[in-house]
Amino acid sequence: MADSELMNEISRRRTFAIISHPDAGKTTLTEKLLLYGGAIHMAGSVKARKAARYAVSDWMEIEKQRGISVTSSVMQFQYQGFCINILDTPGHQDFSEDTYRTLVAADSAVMLIDGAKGVEAQTIKLFHVCRMRQIPIFTFINKLDRAIKDPFALMQELEDVLGIRSYPINWPIGTDGDFKGVYNRQLRQIELFTGDRSHGQAIVTSTRGSADDPVYKELLGEPYYSRLVEEIELLDMAGDEFDLGRVLKGELTPIFFGSAMTNFGVAPFLEEFLKMAPPPGPRTFGDQVISPDDPDFTAFVFKIQANMNPKHRDRIAFMRICSGVFQRGMEVSHSGSEKPIRLAQPQQLMAQERELIEKAYPGDIVGLFDPGIFRISDVLSNRGGLVFTGIPSFPAEHFARISAKDTMKRKQFLKGITQLAQEGAIQVYKEPDIGVEEFIVGAVGVLQFEVLEYRLKNEYSVDIKLQMLPHRHARWIISAPAEPARLNLTSSTRIVKDSHENYVLLFENDWSINWAKEKNKGLELSDISP
Ligand code: G4P
Repeated sequence: MADSELMNEISRRRTFAIISHPDAGKTTLTEKLLLYGGAIHMAGSVKARKAARYAVSDWMEIEKQRGISVTSSVMQFQYQGFCINILDTPGHQDFSEDTYRTLVAADSAVMLIDGAKGVEAQTIKLFHVCRMRQIPIFTFINKLDRAIKDPFALMQELEDVLGIRSYPINWPIGTDGDFKGVYNRQLRQIELFTGDRSHGQAIVTSTRGSADDPVYKELLGEPYYSRLVEEIELLDMAGDEFDLGRVLKGELTPIFFGSAMTNFGVAPFLEEFLKMAPPPGPRTFGDQVISPDDPDFTAFVFKIQANMNPKHRDRIAFMRICSGVFQRGMEVSHSGSEKPIRLAQPQQLMAQERELIEKAYPGDIVGLFDPGIFRISDVLSNRGGLVFTGIPSFPAEHFARISAKDTMKRKQFLKGITQLAQEGAIQVYKEPDIGVEEFIVGAVGVLQFEVLEYRLKNEYSVDIKLQMLPHRHARWIISAPAEPARLNLTSSTRIVKDSHENYVLLFENDWSINWAKEKNKGLELSDISP
């Protein structure tokens, strides 16, 4: 029998990531969620943080300023009895493979969309990973205080671009910059937008009441009221029915309209989200499925953050707890070394402060001090012998050829590249027939190359030559009608092997991918490693 404290802690946990395109308002929404959760008392540090982000273009300077730059990797707060973990998915110039991997640690995702812009490039990429995991996706359409696209057109866009059906939980009234409020379809209530002059620094209260109440008809006035009635009728008739089962499978996304900046719709969103979003569920380790209430402790490493300060070479490895109870000082087996290790210095990184934690539960993220022993996908457990295969390699979009400047340093170069690839800092490919002097490296964000160059120099004393390649897409060969060398490919397509000896094709553009598929019947490609 699982112990009731563990069961209770699991059922009140919600661990999610916000996926969005830069500037959709992720920082603002996160801050407002923290504000409502009481984790911060006044919002408004967004501007200060943004200024810091852009004023210094050199990322290393940014790292120095931020210290280890992990203060916001996970934010935990309490709200109405729930314990909420928001995982940060870095965007902008920090976008890297870690951004994708973080989604493997989440149990659900909030897809934040700028109402005026609709579905944008980075959202599509992150959505794709959530889809692959079949996790529930909740949509928040932001910036309602300004003119947005027609809400029906936005629903169509979700379907056309992302292939997901949607169910609006609330419906906006006034979308041309004349925002009046929203209609809650389940409660059949109107919530009026009161406007906010403090730029949303403080919590707002709103007025809610039955849509049939003549007071609300009057407050909204014509033509808003009639238009609302018409649109709701259309939605009820032609739209999907609400089905929590489909939401939990990631087939139907509930939509919320609001404005993070003015706080409108933030609290109702959070409350509905907490009701619908799932607590931590079972996770698969090889051929074993482990339930979160299993008394054995299990966790996997999904992100490793290197400290760029040469005086402090330590790293932080982030582990997601999947089952059992974590206790500081506990001894666990580590799948990477199969040696027992004592988890004595765990840090959980909440809002702005780092603090040492004593106990944590499934769904929680714990940052471990890492002297260089952890790798992505490592399992920490008191059961032993477990492997986690849930973190594949994600599609790199930038490629470079690298070699050591000084050929005498070949050994260190090889050691550095191998270790950094195992750690998950970079993807490494080999070209058949080329020795170990030269590799092709792939990255999701170009920042990863800079980190690679810097770390090889500082940790392995190797200066490298890095030559950018024009390729933009990596595709793993899942099945092929012939040996890779015999495939009919465009002259610019490269055949390489990843570190697990899987064949990968590097393409410059979509055109050459289509060429490969058309000219080689039966060729099956995947943009995520098998
Ligand atoms: P990000 O983390 O997704 O990149 O976005 P961030 O929160 O930094 O927001 C990007 C811009 O969008 C900011 O404007 C922010 O104030 C604005 N924003 C966020 N939510 C809303 C909203 O609900 N309505 C409106 N109208 N704007 C919103 P900025 O000009 O870069 O900064 P600031 O001068 O407003 O501080």
